[in-house]
Amino acid sequence: MAERHAQLSFDGKEYELPIVEPTIGNAGINIAKLRATSGDVTYDPGFANSAGARSTITYIDGAAGVLQHRGYAIEDLAANASFLEIAYLLLRGKLPTQTELDDWADEVRMHTLLNEEMKRFFDAFPKSAHPMAILSSATNAISTFYEEYHDPTDAAAFDESAVRLLAKMPTIAAWAYKKSIGMPYIYPRNDLNYVENFLHMMFAAPTASYEVDPVIAKAVNVLFVLHADHEQNCSTATVRGVGSSQANLFASVGAGIDALWGPLHGGANQRVIEMLQTIVDDPDATAKSVIARAKDPNDPFRLMGFGHRVYKNYDPRARVLRSYADDVLAAVGIKDPLFDIAKELEQAALEDDYFIERKLFPNVDFYSGLIFRALDFPTRMFTVLFAIGRLPGWMSQWKEMTEDPDTRIMRPRQIYVGDINKAYVPIEDR
Ligand code: SDX
Repeated sequence: MAERHAQLSFDGKEYELPIVEPTIGNAGINIAKLRATSGDVTYDPGFANSAGARSTITYIDGAAGVLQHRGYAIEDLAANASFLEIAYLLLRGKLPTQTELDDWADEVRMHTLLNEEMKRFFDAFPKSAHPMAILSSATNAISTFYEEYHDPTDAAAFDESAVRLLAKMPTIAAWAYKKSIGMPYIYPRNDLNYVENFLHMMFAAPTASYEVDPVIAKAVNVLFVLHADHEQNCSTATVRGVGSSQANLFASVGAGIDALWGPLHGGANQRVIEMLQTIVDDPDATAKSVIARAKDPNDPFRLMGFGHRVYKNYDPRARVLRSYADDVLAAVGIKDPLFDIAKELEQAALEDDYFIERKLFPNVDFYSGLIFRALDFPTRMFTVLFAIGRLPGWMSQWKEMTEDPDTRIMRPRQIYVGDINKAYVPIEDR
């Protein structure tokens, strides 16, 4: 196919901009030379219309509600893949054979322990510390034990760092939880698989044996798979951006955890539950009154778990989770009034012109928290669970960034609208 171009005319000049061709989805108008040739830049707050990279990892069709990882549909992966299997797919680019998966699981299993020195690190936090603050700082803290693997240009060092992060993130998460409830830390066990080991560290106690419920283990596996990657979301863009300065993988992932914590991003799953609980606790609140608040331009309240920068249709992950929530709640024998309120809210929103016009649908965070809650996870751990799920995505995107010949240090430009050339006024004259 002949190379396509876009034409731009501005200020009496014409510019021909080459096109970056996709496999599917948006083509890219390449503006890499625009400032050099025109002296001007584009303006796109939040980069909603700008691609910072070419990628082969995840494809989203927001209009159709399609999500694929390395070409495989999220619905198939959620129904069939283990979390380490999708982590292998994202990081290595192909589905593993049984032998490859077994070897990968054995490799991860050998790195689940934290250095004993890290215990003092956890002890330094107040009991009230939010586990996302602990997760982020512990991610950088453990990097101090692996400085020989920090070189971002060394593929073998990446593999060593990635397997340690994948192996130790659940241990850090579980110990952050134990710290918050004043309970002893539970060590990882090599006879359990990845998800069972995490659940054991979270909910076992030294005083009695703890059997992992297979229903809960399967639900957590599905939740981790659904969160594994999501192309250039805020936290992944942060991981890529920090990595573009050649900061090491641990530092880049730590920054991604911080970005994910925000209530407009991964922190929404905690806010959804808090929102639903407020509605249940308020005798005057109804789905109708909550929708009215969400629509009120003068009210900062937003319907948490609704809307998405890319999906202008039902988030396919939310669709899986919505049907799965019924099964999990039935399996664990819970009737959760928050789930009933959530379904009422969804129904009311999907029938409301404000939400229809803006194409606001439930996103992954709307139902994930209800399942986490049914599985006995405390609300403040929900975004930590999102981070464990997203870790292989962050690392595969970081690796792709380091290997892309187009990669440059992230340094956006600006449109300056401030004062210029002002005379300094001595303080006595101000
Ligand atoms: C995740 O990017 C990813 O891929 C993220 C993620 C991933 O897997 O990594 O999918 C995970 O972060 C999901 C999103 C979780 N966040 C929430 O649920 C928080 C609530 N949602 C919003 O704040 C909002 O929808 C965002 C942040 C998700 C998207 O924001 P955008 O794309 O910047 O959209 P916008 O804020 O410009 O909204 C467009 C319009 C506005 O109204 P108008 O100015 O046109 O009148 O829609 C309105 C907004 O006010 N709107 C909402 C709303 N979301 C958008 N109104 C009420 N409730 C909402 N939730």
